[in-house]
Amino acid sequence: MNLETHLSRHDEDVKNVILRISEVAKTISGGFASRQGASDSSNVYGERQSALDVWADELLISDLRDSGLVRYLASEEQPDVLTFPDSATDLGLTLDPLDGSSLIGVNLSVGTIVGIYRGNVLCPGNELLGAMYVLYGPLTTLTYCLKEGVHEFAMDKKGVFVLLKENVTLPDGKIYGPGALRRDYLPAHRAFIETLEEEGYKLRYSGSLVADVHQILHKGGVFTYPAFAGNERGKLRLLFEAIPMGFIVSQAGGAASDGHRDLLSIKPEGVCQRVPVYIGGKREIDLIVDINKERSV
Ligand code: AHG
Ligand code: MN
Ligand code: MN
Repeated sequence: MNLETHLSRHDEDVKNVILRISEVAKTISGGFASRQGASDSSNVYGERQSALDVWADELLISDLRDSGLVRYLASEEQPDVLTFPDSATDLGLTLDPLDGSSLIGVNLSVGTIVGIYRGNVLCPGNELLGAMYVLYGPLTTLTYCLKEGVHEFAMDKKGVFVLLKENVTLPDGKIYGPGALRRDYLPAHRAFIETLEEEGYKLRYSGSLVADVHQILHKGGVFTYPAFAGNERGKLRLLFEAIPMGFIVSQAGGAASDGHRDLLSIKPEGVCQRVPVYIGGKREIDLIVDINKERSV
């Protein structure tokens, strides 16, 4: 079954926006060879953008604007939410156009992450209509969830996304993907990581959230980019990275947290907000929440 057929039971505008993004993703997947290297610009976080960050951002914004399918568009590479008043829909999207861009030069997997809302995007994750990500790896895959299961498609030789796995659920597994420097761990996080290591969890961390969480989705365990000494809010972006990836894993039977509360219950105060992230199996998420609770009494 192809993506279009699979989406046919959903609202027309939501279906069309996912299909439109899948077309842009196809173009992005063909652009890696000719767009290696850095751009000469920085984003709102002060990070030097890669040429692909800038290109993917421009491509997605212009295509979605022209589609008339999106009213509000927030991108990790833009300082403010864009509004398209002529849109025929009230859909709001969040975009991480190219996640994991530090890995482009070493040819490891990177991706595009999208959150889909009705209206305003500055909402807690539990108000999402759905979310999706594209992973540019040996295969280009597209994973989407509109609250009716998590489904995965792979792009075939003709550029058609065909069903790979329906109703993906998170298995039990002993993998951990720990971001940040060990020397900067805060005490509760250190205790969490030490517990996982004592239990024989195997380290798998590439530096691309989308690829690392994709692995957890299929193999179980936990991905984390915690708060750390010098940055109590962590590194990852609530709106663009944490919410959509946390939503997909939660819908697949896992959970997502900032270490204290459900990540999907956090109301963003601004588009650039960062958040400590734990995404994975319920067991692992309960463990960090319990450790934090014990330490606060
Ligand atoms: P982006 O490429 O969109 O800026 O995101 C990078 C993020 C995320 O993909 C990854 O988990 C994390 O930053 C990696 O950070 P470190 O290089 O500090 O490990
Ligand atoms: Mn990112
Ligand atoms: Mn990015």
